[in-house]
Amino acid sequence: MAEIQFKNISKSYGSTKVIDNLNLTIEEGKFTVLVGPSGCGKTTLLRMIAGIELQTSGQIFINGKNVSRTSPGKRDVAMVFQNYAIYPTMTVRGNIEYGLKNNKVSREKREELINNITSIVGLKPYLDRKPSTLSGGQRQRIALARAMVKQPAVFLMDEPLSNLDAKLRAQMRLELIELHKKLGTTFVYVTHDQIEAMSMADQIILMNDGKIQQEASPEEIYFEPKNLFTAQFMGTPPMNILHVSNEAQYKMGFRPEAAQLSEATKTSNGMNLKGVIITREMLGSETIYQVKNSEQTFMVKSTNRNFKVGMEVHVTVKYEDLIFFDLQGAAISLTNDEISSILMKQQGEKQWNL
Ligand SMILES: Nc1ncnc2c1ncn2[C@@H]1O[C@H](COP(=O)(O)OP(=O)(O)OP(=O)(O)O)[C@@H](O)[C@H]1O
Ligand SMILES: [Mg+2]
Repeated sequence: MAEIQFKNISKSYGSTKVIDNLNLTIEEGKFTVLVGPSGCGKTTLLRMIAGIELQTSGQIFINGKNVSRTSPGKRDVAMVFQNYAIYPTMTVRGNIEYGLKNNKVSREKREELINNITSIVGLKPYLDRKPSTLSGGQRQRIALARAMVKQPAVFLMDEPLSNLDAKLRAQMRLELIELHKKLGTTFVYVTHDQIEAMSMADQIILMNDGKIQQEASPEEIYFEPKNLFTAQFMGTPPMNILHVSNEAQYKMGFRPEAAQLSEATKTSNGMNLKGVIITREMLGSETIYQVKNSEQTFMVKSTNRNFKVGMEVHVTVKYEDLIFFDLQGAAISLTNDEISSILMKQQGEKQWNL
């Protein structure tokens, strides 16, 4: 087990800065997920922990030890890549054993490790098979097992499930959560998929443009986003954002599932909008409606599937489900009274169809 610390880490490729003065502590024993849009620097960060990529400036500590100049082999980390390079000509056993042999681990010890680990990842029946005779999920498990036999203090995983189909991916997610529980090792997992991040992480680190946007538990990141970027990156469909302008200007957000639809006018303690349904997407347990008024369109996720395209509807959002941001995108906290007064003024000025 190990804690990882970044101190003032920057990374440039030529004149392009891809990580900008990043400070971060990844807690020991936690399942930490690095998430963010393509190109934001996730893989770069992970490769710097592994030592495959060197930072341009700053320091990295693993378990309090400065590893900034330590070679990858001596950092006590193991990495599972997106394109897990397993050797096609070797058996499952051969693939898992390879690194151990290289490290001159005794035959007895190798046998013990392989036995333990292949029973954890469910590969024991396949030890003498070639990878080509296995499914995608089983091959992915070889890559995991190969990392596990090293018994590293830190597991680094870069989109390890992206080659799998949706169903297998969901199953492997659960298996990785179980595996983390069993091992209790520090896991750092990279994905660009916010649903994967939400479902797996103890702690999410959301990045954009080489900077950390928010670092928090899945709950906190979803319900208490610190800024507009986080609010819109996490959740599908993304949070609706409306522009509010009276004497002050705000951006106001609400999640699609926080909005209630009705045909009759609602006079509840919340924000009311009127609009017309322009699209309807039935997803099984939920239906997603796109509602349009004269100002904008917004998404509503509802368990009620009875609304039809063309219907005029009222959309109500409780005050506590509204999130306000300043024009720079930082979340601001307001009381219900303050929200009510902002919305009343907005209504007075007929800025939108309330
Ligand atoms: N070897 C390199 N030389 C030059 N630029 C690079 C190099 N490797 C990465 N970059 C750039 O650094 C930025 C961050 O890349 P990185 O691979 O860390 O992104 P990522 O967040 O992992 O994205 P993805 O989700 O697409 O994998 C990108 O703009 C990329 O083009
Ligand atoms: Mg990447």
